[in-house]
Amino acid sequence: MSLSAHQSARMRNDEWLTPPEILSPLGAFDLDPCAPVIRPWDTASRHYTIQEDGLAQEWGGRVWCNPPFGREAVKWLRRMAEHGNGIALIPARTETAMFYECVWGQADAVLFVKGRPHFHRVDGSRAGFNSGAPICLVAYGKTNARTLLASRLGHVVPASLFSGEPA
Ligand SMILES: C[S@@+](CC[C@H](N)C(=O)[O-])C[C@H]1O[C@@H](n2cnc3c(N)ncnc32)[C@H](O)[C@@H]1O
Repeated sequence: MSLSAHQSARMRNDEWLTPPEILSPLGAFDLDPCAPVIRPWDTASRHYTIQEDGLAQEWGGRVWCNPPFGREAVKWLRRMAEHGNGIALIPARTETAMFYECVWGQADAVLFVKGRPHFHRVDGSRAGFNSGAPICLVAYGKTNARTLLASRLGHVVPASLFSGEPA
């Protein structure tokens, strides 16, 4: 995961995998469209890697998306919003244009993960350092919003509170 440099200079490439303790409470996924070529565990029933280019493929079913970050991330989040069924993991940078376009404007719920997760290398080993940044999970589709609520991974804000208007 290439969180921006000021967040975690040690996580410079995209090959940082979601910790099992985050994936496990979220249940089974049908597709991970951005998976590593070599992976220590499955994240879904089907995976696309950089070799197939997950953005160029058809997406189906319930999607897990921890995308390549940096400038590429917005393309994946747009696709998640368009697809409307799945959960994405992104930095909780709530002020960014991507967040305004693809999360506040589109998602059904956001879960702010408690603490800073330690991501894993493609050999399965856990990083000795944490993400260096807050992380959130974004649900597209009401069933996925309910899954976030049940996961107990952090605090959930439902879309009904997203309007930005004073209560
Ligand atoms: C942050 S990692 C997440 C890996 C995995 N989805 C997970 O949650 O553990 C992002 C992954 O996207 C892959 N990737 C980068 N560009 C891709 C593309 N165009 N199509 C599919 N996968 C891609 C990288 O190789 C990397 O493994």
